[in-house]
Amino acid sequence: MKGVILAGGSGTRLHPLTRITNKHLLPIYDRPMVNWSIDALVGAGITELMLVTGGTHAGEFFRLLGNGHDHGIERLFYAYQDQTGGIAEALALAERFVERDKVCVMLADNVFASSLRPVVENFERQKRGARIVLSHVAEDEHLRHLGVAVREEGRVTRIVEKPAEPPSKHAVTGVYFYDEQVWDVVPTLKPSGRGELEITDVNNWYIERGEMEADEIEGFWGDAGESIDAYYEVNDFVRRNGANA
Ligand code: G1P
Repeated sequence: MKGVILAGGSGTRLHPLTRITNKHLLPIYDRPMVNWSIDALVGAGITELMLVTGGTHAGEFFRLLGNGHDHGIERLFYAYQDQTGGIAEALALAERFVERDKVCVMLADNVFASSLRPVVENFERQKRGARIVLSHVAEDEHLRHLGVAVREEGRVTRIVEKPAEPPSKHAVTGVYFYDEQVWDVVPTLKPSGRGELEITDVNNWYIERGEMEADEIEGFWGDAGESIDAYYEVNDFVRRNGANA
């Protein structure tokens, strides 16, 4: 299975910090944010990675990660995103790297307390389709900034992106698994209200076909790019407890 780490975007929710650097280079405890997602994938056994980034600080990722070997990566590829057109648009740049393989996509601002290895193993066993990772989030205030999954009898029947009225407490985290059908779906997407190609639309495509599985992950999960408060919440957690254990 290949891994794609998405580290682009303009990080407007963390302005003005992100006027001087890329969001994923901001510190989370003792290292740049992006390092935690690399740790998460490498720790789960995914060592062939592509990092997608953009903007004026893309070169810093080379300086930080080099060829990836010091971080446990066997082969590290880079892609440059010209525009900030959303997660699904960034993912499209990885098509020729992933080819017909299975892929795990991770947003580089997501931090998990526990290892992703069991979820990766579940997708290795899955014959076809896609898989998402859910996390229980109690506060509606958080959920309004996220994708929220509706589950009926254990199956995800729909995902609502940034719902004004969250339909459940199942937040959709920024770790996604796809089979090769994803490359047929992405070109059919239309920009959303925020002008982006939404990963939630890709996920709903799989749900409609009955090809979406989900795992609910235990323990802390945070999207450090959600808001400045979420950024500090993730920092505080990692400083006390570490991540990817
Ligand atoms: C994205 C997804 C959202 C998901 C979140 C997780 O939101 O669109 O469904 O819950 O990542 O980090 P964004 O960070 O683009 O606002």
